[in-house]
Amino acid sequence: MIPRYRFANAYFKSKRRMIGPWLKSSHELVNLTYSLSPENQRYAAQYLSLITGRPASEAAGYIQELLNDPEIPAHVARQVAQSSERFVSDEEVRYGRRVLYYALARLIKPKVIVEAGVDKGLAMVCFSRALARNAEEGFPGKVIGIDIESKAGYLVKPPFDAHSEFVLSDSVEAVRAITEPIDIFIHETIVSHESEHARLLETRLSEYGFIFSAWNTGAFREFAERTGRNYLVFAEELKDHWYQGGHLATVFRLPVRQTDSDLANVATQRAPESSLSS
Ligand SMILES: C[S@@+](CC[C@H](N)C(=O)[O-])C[C@H]1O[C@@H](n2cnc3c(N)ncnc32)[C@H](O)[C@@H]1O
Repeated sequence: MIPRYRFANAYFKSKRRMIGPWLKSSHELVNLTYSLSPENQRYAAQYLSLITGRPASEAAGYIQELLNDPEIPAHVARQVAQSSERFVSDEEVRYGRRVLYYALARLIKPKVIVEAGVDKGLAMVCFSRALARNAEEGFPGKVIGIDIESKAGYLVKPPFDAHSEFVLSDSVEAVRAITEPIDIFIHETIVSHESEHARLLETRLSEYGFIFSAWNTGAFREFAERTGRNYLVFAEELKDHWYQGGHLATVFRLPVRQTDSDLANVATQRAPESSLSS
């Protein structure tokens, strides 16, 4: 048993070593923030390319646009330092999955984004920045953030509150009241909301709209199957963090579907079997 124990333990050793430095360097208790590994960021660009049909290089460019933005880290550090939440929040910005949210908003230029579950508002700040840049390029849009806690969204302050609205409410009630088509929906409240959100989105998600969910109960996969959409899951790999990373469920519909003749063309262009094996 000892060699087998050592073998299994080796998988967790390096993660365990990260707990001590994290205890000293971070104040976070819940909704931990972390950075994606560089390789996972490259994979995120490929993932965005797959779900939008846009070049991965363009998605990678938008991810870098966020990571190289000096104003968001300065803004977040200022807001956290002034907030009563500073004892459970970090001044350093670590975007994690929000690099996908930002790059998607830059890629598809949405009119309406809804984020259910705002917490301190880091994703709202990223969306607000993306929407400001989209507006400068002639594509206005807005983000509606919903949270049941009145202190949520304390990072969403000028200039990162432009193009944003905050709704203090239970998210199911708030989504029920939305009548305009939703281009990006972020489900990050509680696991039990997933099936109710899915039901409400049947009539509220725009034809080529996207859903991201931090939970994977199967409700959004069933939603995708019911409504003729696709469902994929992005697995986060973290840089220097003990947390194993989340799984980001994504519902989408590709704008261009391959026709039978496209597929036939691909088949005839394939290399003959003999050349593959040589
Ligand atoms: C994981 S955090 C959201 C993280 C956030 N999207 C981000 O980018 O950091 C979950 C949030 O959902 C909110 N929440 C929980 N139950 C809710 C409900 N019934 N309606 C609306 N918000 C809720 C919590 O107050 C909390 O702020």
